[in-house]
Amino acid sequence: MNLDQEKLIAAKEAVKYVKNGMTVGLGTGSTAAHMVNELGELVKNGLEIVGVPSSESTKKLATEKGIPLTTLEKANSIDVYIDGADEFDPYMQLIKGGGGALLREKILTYNSELVIIIADSQKEVKRLGDFKLPVETIPFATKKIEQSLQKMGLQPKLRVKNDENFVTDEGNYILDLNIKHITNIPALESRLNQIPGIVETGLFLDMADMIIIGKGENAITLKK
Ligand code: 5RP
Repeated sequence: MNLDQEKLIAAKEAVKYVKNGMTVGLGTGSTAAHMVNELGELVKNGLEIVGVPSSESTKKLATEKGIPLTTLEKANSIDVYIDGADEFDPYMQLIKGGGGALLREKILTYNSELVIIIADSQKEVKRLGDFKLPVETIPFATKKIEQSLQKMGLQPKLRVKNDENFVTDEGNYILDLNIKHITNIPALESRLNQIPGIVETGLFLDMADMIIIGKGENAITLKK
């Protein structure tokens, strides 16, 4: 079973939680793209939902798939948010932001009634930190933030795409940090949040209500 199949299995299971009339937060990335495709099919077959996309790329895909969209500002509430993750641990803590959409993703996560994470089996780790932790920073402060994080031993690397600084949908930069040696992740999160100019981190602590993992042919569901 390849990983893309596992992502698809997780996505198919997750959309079962989407019911007529719901406002659905749409995540970003290759796993979330399967979910958007699946919802597109359901909409074609009569499901009535409205989506709130977490990125410009998801907005484009959802539009192509015929899913009616609204904005977070206009949505009264988000019934369910479905998104991928870069890593999750046994306590359902996550690293997200590999695709660079962590800020809007975290805002949608925070504002949703039910948060469902979908993942292939390779995303499961005993301890967070094999994946480099993305933090979103405002360009004005990024050099100084980089120096502070270097002093903290987090080996920040400015994310680059096509030889240019990667720029998020909100016009910010991303620093990817090595947190493998960090044991107290919540304390790290607090420290990072205290640095002016860090807009958000890719640590999604205590935010997932459910993780659906595609494992071989099966979907395994972890609940809070
Ligand atoms: C984007 C994300 C994605 O959910 C995460 O990077 C996982 O991506 P994929 O499903 O392609 O493995 O956080 O910002």
